Amino acid sequence: MRHFLNLSNAGGEAIAAMLNEAMERKERRAGWPKGKPDDDRPLDGAVLAMIFEKSSTRTRVSFDLAMRQLGGSAIILEGSSSQLGRGETIADTARVLSRFADAIMIRTDHHHKAEELAEYATVPVINGLTDLSHPCQLLADMQTVIEKRSKLAGSRWAWIGDGNNVCNSLIEAAALMQFELAVACPTEFKPNKIFASAAVARGARINFTHDPREAVEGAEVVVTDTWVSMGQEDDQVRQEAFASFQVDEAVMALAAPDATFLHCLPAHRGEEVTDAVIDGPQSAVWDEAENRLHAQKALLMWAMGKL
Ligand code: CP
Ligand code: NVA
Repeated sequence: MRHFLNLSNAGGEAIAAMLNEAMERKERRAGWPKGKPDDDRPLDGAVLAMIFEKSSTRTRVSFDLAMRQLGGSAIILEGSSSQLGRGETIADTARVLSRFADAIMIRTDHHHKAEELAEYATVPVINGLTDLSHPCQLLADMQTVIEKRSKLAGSRWAWIGDGNNVCNSLIEAAALMQFELAVACPTEFKPNKIFASAAVARGARINFTHDPREAVEGAEVVVTDTWVSMGQEDDQVRQEAFASFQVDEAVMALAAPDATFLHCLPAHRGEEVTDAVIDGPQSAVWDEAENRLHAQKALLMWAMGKL
């Protein structure tokens, strides 16, 4: 069963194939009406069920549109308005949705909920973000870097900010796809230890530091994310802890001269990133957001055995 709870479920070779497929499909349909299916409709008639227990704009729209463009369709369940919100178990939900859908995507808080869904589903389960990881985001980020910089392996990335779900998946990606990474987080907001040690065990070239300036020195790709992820809104200590981790023009000036700026979005302008950077010439965030669609089309094809 091709579950995609983390990038390592697919592995480097399958991810490389997904990124190629994503870029080829994107190029082939350039200029087409957005809702028009791809000529070959590789997932003709297939159904994706999506469970959202957290907010979303990009993930929700890009997965829905991805299914339409592949010839299939998507059904959305909100945690609060489905029976999950009234206590139906994840296992029973998995059993039922497996009878209606060909794959299930879940966005939730605790990662073990996605794991439990995968355990009981008889169709592939895709992680559309948990508190632990956000592997779909990294597919889009890697596609964007290949498009902007022509290569992924050997490129130098810097993560500045919270050691959160996106950061954990970035660490996994660096190990699987062999790019260099420097991670700068405040001492109390480091990335997940298991992700970090697994990447190091795989031979990843990752420098963990608490100094954003050290991390960004010479970086070709600079990435950040919100200081307050979904579910952390009551955590008052964050603004202070992250005050010196803002990506502004001075930080970008330390990176390679033509460095690419990425942010998964939504951005908190004036906090983790300034307007000048996110709206500036080095920012690739809108292409990055669009690439969620293209990368996830390839992911859906892989999950459903068409790639
Ligand atoms: N980047 C991302 O996952 O965006 P949404 O929260 O809008 O889905
Ligand atoms: N780290 C953020 C990512 C949002 C796409 C969060 O979990 O809220």
